[in-house]
Amino acid sequence: MSRYFVHPGGQLKGRFPVPGDKSISHRAIILGALAEGVTEIEGLLEGADVLATIAAFRAMGVGIEGPDNGHLRIQGVGLHGLRAPAAPLDCGNSGTAMRLLAGVLAGQAFPSTLIGDASLQRRPMGRVLNPLRAMGAEITAREGRAPLHIHGEPLHGINYALPVASAQVKSAVLLAGLYADGQTCVTEPAPTRDHSERMLQGFGYQVERQGPRACLRSGGQLRGQSLQVPGDISSAAFFLLGASIAPGSDLTLEGVGINPTRTGIIEILTRMGARIDLTALREVGGEPVADIRVRYAPLQGVVIPPRLVPLAIDEFPALFIAAACAKGQTVVTGAEELRVKESDRIAVMASGLRAMGITVEERADGAVIHGSPLLGGRINSHGDHRIAMAFAMAALVARSDIEILDCANVATSFPNFPVLAHQSGLLLAVVGA
Ligand code: S3P
Repeated sequence: MSRYFVHPGGQLKGRFPVPGDKSISHRAIILGALAEGVTEIEGLLEGADVLATIAAFRAMGVGIEGPDNGHLRIQGVGLHGLRAPAAPLDCGNSGTAMRLLAGVLAGQAFPSTLIGDASLQRRPMGRVLNPLRAMGAEITAREGRAPLHIHGEPLHGINYALPVASAQVKSAVLLAGLYADGQTCVTEPAPTRDHSERMLQGFGYQVERQGPRACLRSGGQLRGQSLQVPGDISSAAFFLLGASIAPGSDLTLEGVGINPTRTGIIEILTRMGARIDLTALREVGGEPVADIRVRYAPLQGVVIPPRLVPLAIDEFPALFIAAACAKGQTVVTGAEELRVKESDRIAVMASGLRAMGITVEERADGAVIHGSPLLGGRINSHGDHRIAMAFAMAALVARSDIEILDCANVATSFPNFPVLAHQSGLLLAVVGA
C-alpha cells in the first residue's frame, strides 16, 4: 500500500500546468462516444477515474485510441450505436463515472451492470436512481448502492427538481434526457458545475438554460469535436494551499479552468487573506481559463458562506488545512455532502487534524477549525486522494514529519502529484507500490 513521507519545511516555487480537468475529461469521453464522427481530445486527464470511463465505452464497442500524452481519439458511434457490454462495467473509485454512465445506460436497449470499488459501493446512488426510475428506467440496487443493474426501457422526459445540489445527478438526468420522449428539465437548488450543459452545446446539442433550470429534448444529434481540456482547478487547489501557507512561496499554475461554478476555492482563500492573481484570461474548449499566480500570505480564519460550498465542493480537504494554518477559527456549515464523497471528508479531516494537534469541532454539516501550529504525525487518508494531497501540503508548515497512509488513489485524479509537488519544493517521498 503506498504511503507518503513528507519532511517539514520547504517552500513552493515554479511555473507549470496542472493536469486536465477530471469532470471535463469524463464528459468529453461520454459525449465523444455518443457523437457522430470523430472526437479528438487534447489535455485529457490520464487518471484512473477517467481510464475507467474509457474502458466502459470500449467495452460497449466504441473505438478509442489513446490516451497518449493527453491525446484521445474517439470514433463516435452516435446516440444509438452502443453495444451491450459482455461483463459488468467497472467504475473503480469514480462517482462521476458511475452516476453519468447510469444516465446514459438507462436509455439503452440492452441491460448492463455498473460496479465499483469498496468506497464507491458505500456511496449513495439513490439520488440518481430516483429520477431515472421516474423517467421509466428499471434499475435494481441493494439499499441504493452499487452494483447497479440497469435494464434499458423506453424513457419519458421529466421536470426534475434536484433535492441536493449535485452536478453528477443533474448530468445523469440530462444524459438520460437525450433518450427520453419529449423534454427533460432539471432545476438545481444552488449552482453546481455546468460542464455538461456547456459541452452538450459545444457538441451541437441544444440546451435551454434559464437561471437554475436546464432543459433539452431528445431527437437531436451530437457532432464529433476537437477539444482541449483545461487544467483542473481541483488539482491546482493543493498548490494554492501549499504556496499560501509556506513563507517564501511563489508559484504560477498555467492553463487552469476558472469556470465560475468551480472557483469557490479562490474566493474562500482570498477571503482568508491569500495572495492569488489571475492572468492571461482566455477561453479553452468552451471554458474560461487563466494562469494563476499564488504567493505566500498570512491567512485569517473565516466563516465560509454556505452558498460557496457547492462551488468548492472538492476543495474542503485543502480548505481544512488552510483553516488549521490560519489565525483564529474557520466555520464550515452547509457541507453535509462532504460526508458522502470518496470518504467521509468531515470525519477523516477532523481526525487527521486532531492527530496533528489541531482542535476541530465536528458538526453534522461541517466543522469549526481552530488555527494553531501543526505538529507532525501519522495520518490515515482512508484511500481518499484529496485527503492525502491536502495533508502532504500541511508538511510545509508542520513541526515534524508527516506520514500519510493509503495514498495509491491519488492516481485517480492526479497521477503526477508526487513528482510535481517534489519538483516545486515539497519534501515528499513515496514509499511502497
Ligand atoms: C463532479 C461533481 C461533484 C464533485 C465530483 C465531480 C462532476 O460531485 O464532487 O468530484 O464531475 O460532476 P456532486 O455532483 O455529487 O456534488
